[in-house]
Amino acid sequence: MSEPLSSVPPDEPLIRISKVVRDYKRPRTSLWRPAKVVHAVRGVSLEIKPGERFGIVGESGCGKSTLLRLLAGLDRPDSGEIFVSGTEISRLPERRLGFLREDLQMVFQDPMSSLDPRMRVRDIIAEPLVVQGHPASGERVRELLEAVGLPPDAGARYPHQFSGGQRQRISIARALAPRPRILVADEPVSALDVSVRAQVLNLITELVDSLNLTLIFVSHDLSVVRHVCDRVAVMHAGEVVETGTTGEVYTAPRHPYTRRLVSAIPTLQRALAGATTADLIQREKR
Ligand SMILES: Nc1ncnc2c1ncn2[C@@H]1O[C@H](COP(=O)(O)OP(=O)(O)OP(=O)(O)O)[C@@H](O)[C@H]1O
Ligand SMILES: [Mg+2]
Repeated sequence: MSEPLSSVPPDEPLIRISKVVRDYKRPRTSLWRPAKVVHAVRGVSLEIKPGERFGIVGESGCGKSTLLRLLAGLDRPDSGEIFVSGTEISRLPERRLGFLREDLQMVFQDPMSSLDPRMRVRDIIAEPLVVQGHPASGERVRELLEAVGLPPDAGARYPHQFSGGQRQRISIARALAPRPRILVADEPVSALDVSVRAQVLNLITELVDSLNLTLIFVSHDLSVVRHVCDRVAVMHAGEVVETGTTGEVYTAPRHPYTRRLVSAIPTLQRALAGATTADLIQREKR
């Protein structure tokens, strides 16, 4: 079995991604032309320390979700290495990835499609425990419902009986069930109504703090990442073009792509909403 994650000293990276490459072949459309290759991730290197809240930001199709799948052991890189807690995971057989299946949990963008509509909420939340062969007590499920701000009787209901924000709370409860150390959130509020985004973001940051989790938070919105994360990597066309503290990247972007991303924020938000998600978060906290 691999080293437990708790063995990582605080200044060592919990996650080290080194020169990771992932290409996908598109199906051939003609006998005469070679299959097209999509370079989804092109030589990404990153280090994430225990307890960090790490953001990955970039436009649609830049490779964010692919990188997360590689990190979660759900897909394998063509080349490069991925260390989690000192263990190189990218070439480990599935049966040796058990530690990762518990220690790293994911929350996805669309809670409706990531929750099985035929299952009751209590079974959805208990599922990751059951899959790993642990008994899931009603007590633990109630504790998780309370932690994400849902009433105890929510367990007996089905996902469609909840609002989008509540469904994302269910996904968060499910992710926390196996007591992970790493929470990976892939655009967790992008599919939600603007009015509930701030609540769900606050819930995630509060839980990350109180449970001492390492957070990897993916978004196309740098202003959201800025309020949730300590450090950020900016991805563009499969590459990390810039990393730094969120403050540095937001106020003094170095790469031209990041500058474009930053300069787009106020104009877009003025045009679309009038109130930024960041404003809403501040308002919530008051
Ligand atoms: N399984 C796959 N097969 C073929 N191409 C893929 C596959 N997964 C991703 N891609 C391609 O790889 C590129 C990166 O996709 P990815 O989903 O990682 O982007 P993303 O940054 O998460 O985008 P979004 O913000 O829209 O979620 C895209 O061009 C996508 O079409
Ligand atoms: Mg994605």
